[in-house]
Amino acid sequence: MSPARAVDAVRDAFIAHARGEWTMPPKVYVTNYPAGDFRAMPALGAGHALLKWVTSFPGNPARGLPTVAGLVLVSDASNGTLRAVLDAGSVTALRTGAAAVLAAETLGRADAETAAVIGAGVNGRATARTFAARGHEVVLWDVDESRARGVADELGAGVAQSLADALAADLVATVTPGHDVVIGDRTLFEGQHVSLMGADGPGKAEMAGAELARARLFCDDWKQASHGGELAHAVEDGLVTEADVTPLGRVLAGEAAGRESAAEITAFDSTGLAIQDLAIALAALEAAGDLSGLPLLDL
Ligand SMILES: NC(=O)c1ccc[n+]([C@@H]2O[C@H](COP(=O)([O-])OP(=O)(O)OC[C@H]3O[C@@H](n4cnc5c(N)ncnc54)[C@H](O)[C@@H]3O)[C@@H](O)[C@H]2O)c1
Repeated sequence: MSPARAVDAVRDAFIAHARGEWTMPPKVYVTNYPAGDFRAMPALGAGHALLKWVTSFPGNPARGLPTVAGLVLVSDASNGTLRAVLDAGSVTALRTGAAAVLAAETLGRADAETAAVIGAGVNGRATARTFAARGHEVVLWDVDESRARGVADELGAGVAQSLADALAADLVATVTPGHDVVIGDRTLFEGQHVSLMGADGPGKAEMAGAELARARLFCDDWKQASHGGELAHAVEDGLVTEADVTPLGRVLAGEAAGRESAAEITAFDSTGLAIQDLAIALAALEAAGDLSGLPLLDL
């Protein structure tokens, strides 16, 4: 599936969810810290039910193993039969890149051109690939320069000279493990947009609290974002309440305002939603119809 198709599918899913047409019980964390955690993520929509069983094991790359692994099960919601089994890592990368870019294009300035991706791992690569597919000039930055270089060479993108250079782009996506703040106090410029993708669980943060206070805040889902995302610390300290944060789906559905001036800084806190996975899975099923000649598993 092309990254451009993934953006369209994820946009439709955010809108269907905002309108209450697609539903999503809260994701369940099964933790085995410090090694990592497992997540069970269900969703229902467009006549299908989905469960993603997926991991986050941050120390895995050092052992040559992926941080994110697992399976996505898709069932027919009318009779419960299993329709497809997909690789969770691939679905996650497509929908995470799609959400980062969708938020950037929805909330960024209309004249935004340059994009930067900070963290060039599996999901950073997917985000950079999606930015490039949507026609943005993209640079990468990673603490491990060879990773940024590898992805940049593959995509025909650039490598930022420094973190500060990357943070000067019109549209910024952070896709790091979230253990260290990468956007410090007074770092962002007027009119910038940041998609905060990496801090998707408890105890993680990519943006300093004081910098969050300078931004207009958006999230994918308030319940998830207030408990285990970038905003969780500020919510705990009483600095951010639900009234301060607009769900992206409501903006896309035309129910809430997005960016209101060219000078505003906008920040999107992504925790990752099962409805995004459902969107990708359904688009993959649709595309599978075009794979004539390939053997499809008869379930
Ligand atoms: N929001 C979502 O929907 C979503 C989806 C998938 C993954 N994630 C999260 O995104 C993060 C990255 O996932 P991944 O699968 O790409 O991991 P990964 O291990 O493949 O990549 C992480 C990259 O970040 C780099 N990095 C580490 N610290 C950095 C720093 N301070 N500055 C810049 N680069 C840094 C690493 O060198 C590595 O290249 C994880 O925290 C994961 O849980 C979020």
